[in-house]
Amino acid sequence: MKIINVRTSRPYNVLIERGSLKKSGELISQVIHSKKAVVITDDKVNSLHADILVESLEKNGISASVFVFPHGEQSKSLTVLGQIYDFLCEKRITRSDFLIALGGGVVGDITGFAAATYLRGIEFVQIPTTLLAQVDSSVGGKTAIDIAGGKNLVGSFKQPALVICDSDTLRTLPQEELSCGMAEVIKYGMIRDEKLFETLEKHDISNIDDVMDSVVYTCVDIKREVVEHDEFDTGERMMLNFGHTLGHAIEGWHNYTDYTHGMGVAVGMCIITEKLCSPELSERLKKCVKSYGLPTSTEAPMSELLPYCSTDKKCDSDSINYIVCEKIGQAQIKKVTVSEFSVLMEG
Ligand code: NAD
Ligand code: GLY
Repeated sequence: MKIINVRTSRPYNVLIERGSLKKSGELISQVIHSKKAVVITDDKVNSLHADILVESLEKNGISASVFVFPHGEQSKSLTVLGQIYDFLCEKRITRSDFLIALGGGVVGDITGFAAATYLRGIEFVQIPTTLLAQVDSSVGGKTAIDIAGGKNLVGSFKQPALVICDSDTLRTLPQEELSCGMAEVIKYGMIRDEKLFETLEKHDISNIDDVMDSVVYTCVDIKREVVEHDEFDTGERMMLNFGHTLGHAIEGWHNYTDYTHGMGVAVGMCIITEKLCSPELSERLKKCVKSYGLPTSTEAPMSELLPYCSTDKKCDSDSINYIVCEKIGQAQIKKVTVSEFSVLMEG
């Protein structure tokens, strides 16, 4: 088993091992001593992976009730959050009990926020089952729900007590979801780790599973380092947004319907690299992106994307922070005015 200790204000371990879901009861018992848990999951993950978790919890003397909500981003809502609070009250969950998020980033974000706020805060464990959640959302303590005004606008920082990544769970993911997570993996290679990028170049979507544990380990370790330096997202953590400002704009242009987050990030990374870096680097990135089933360009005109960039919640009123990697593994954060950014992108 690979173990990464994340030394944030509340330190915790990320455990990475194939088949660890089956052992999760035992692994959790070593960290949390309560014998009562609520597992929160979505309908798809519930039918695929929840029984294995509940069996392992019961074997280790932990009684678990399961709260299931419909899969998809629309469930990261005040309505579902209210239903979770009601369920926790009904099950008489106290401050010494805990929650387990079993699922992708949607499950992790809403469960984390419920754990941060129910009874002013109880423990929670992340068991991420999408690649995106294993390499990104389950680590670092950002939790949130969406409101009418926008995605992730209500949330808190709440670090989990433990994260368990079982790459066997990724084998049931549809390819589109695997590709979505690969966009974030490619991002880590670009911002911090040329060796990881080279590993990605030697594989593709059909065989990356062969090295998944070590890929997840490398990405989580990069995230650990960034988050330890900037837990509350006031500086360096921004580099995790490489490709994201344009990516969010492209998702918005598509009304968040037929375009995944990973597709947006992939195109965002490719556009910024094409505009600001060498043709060789741009071609290398595009080749890698394509080999994981992701697009490298968009039909959306830049003039229509730019207004979305300036309303991104990471921007203040008249400036944009963008991330550029002029060499693989080396990211720089640059702050420019909105009009300077427009000139760079339209030039
Ligand atoms: P998701 O949770 O919606 O999962 C994607 C789909 O995969 C869902 O339909 C889900 O049911 C299904 N699924 C999950 N695990 C599966 C498995 N093992 N087998 C088969 N199907 C499975 O989406 P996501 O991409 O995991 O996460 C996106 C969310 O994460 C967004 O809400 C985003 O805002 C959030 N996010 C948060 C952070 C953070 O730091 N907190 C970082 C990045 C993204
Ligand atoms: N996913 C970006 C962050 O955790 O800051």
